[in-house]
Amino acid sequence: MITCSAPGKIYLFGEHAVVYGEPAIACAINLRVCVSVELTSSGKITIAAMNKRANCSSEEFKYACYAAQTIKQLFETEFGAEITIRSEVPPRQGLGSSAAVTVSTIKALSESLGIELNNETVAKIGHKVENEVQGKASPADTFVSSTGGVVLVEKAKTSHLSQLDVPLIIGATGVERSTSDVVAFVSDLRKKYPSVVGGVMSLIGDITRLGEQKLADGDLASTGELMNINQGLLESLGVSDIALSRLIYAARTAGAFGAKITGAGCGGCIVAIASTGNVDHVTEAIAKQGARVLTTTISSSGLQVEVSQERSTRDIA
Ligand code: PMV
Repeated sequence: MITCSAPGKIYLFGEHAVVYGEPAIACAINLRVCVSVELTSSGKITIAAMNKRANCSSEEFKYACYAAQTIKQLFETEFGAEITIRSEVPPRQGLGSSAAVTVSTIKALSESLGIELNNETVAKIGHKVENEVQGKASPADTFVSSTGGVVLVEKAKTSHLSQLDVPLIIGATGVERSTSDVVAFVSDLRKKYPSVVGGVMSLIGDITRLGEQKLADGDLASTGELMNINQGLLESLGVSDIALSRLIYAARTAGAFGAKITGAGCGGCIVAIASTGNVDHVTEAIAKQGARVLTTTISSSGLQVEVSQERSTRDIA
């Protein structure tokens, strides 16, 4: 059995706009997904997660299934596999759990089949899988999950920014949604109001570029302010909602530098950044609104092959 793990992610800036060629900044987080693969002679793909078992007809496990089918097609090979998913990342809530499942499945399958793939190649194959499942996806999620760290994504280009040491406070509403549905909703809005929505996307792009400078200067107060402005524009696209807004305002009122939704929105999570001394206060304020709070940091490590049960790992980049 081969087990691979990969991190979830948050967006500091630029989700949605990144789908239309604007830049975005995403960070891998220290919450991981683990995928174990055992090849079988049945020819069938079965998937188990959180005490549920299913085959490829299950909507829920689409990403792992498409990943397996893609490996079959790309490498013209037939196999059966039992795929087991364990995760610290709440699914379908904007924390990149689908990308982490996708790249971990691709890597665990390729290792099991003796096919050598580096992390960047896994990210590219993973992006193809996400495009098929979602209809349209940026390369951000699979690249961040495969390579870790802080990543600037613009069109097909991805590059690492300096590692950032800042506490991240994530508030999860618990409302699951489909990224592809929200992406389709924004796409319809853009078709209806091309110049308005195009203008919003381009402003989000400007915020991301400015945010990149503030991050490089280590100016977390301005980074937070720009996150807040980015949130206003996401709100204008209709992807925020009252439950998310409550968490965002609770975080800001408790003194966070900034807070916004992360990922597609319409449910899912918010992310706040705060000074180390203020983390508990912000955490408490978000929790008081009834949200599950995950406090984490940015992970410099991406996709890894796990070499023992104790989760000691071998870098495969
Ligand atoms: O909600 P998530 O984690 O699937 O992130 C979606 C981010 C979008 O920009 C809305 C779509 C994409 O593919 O980049």
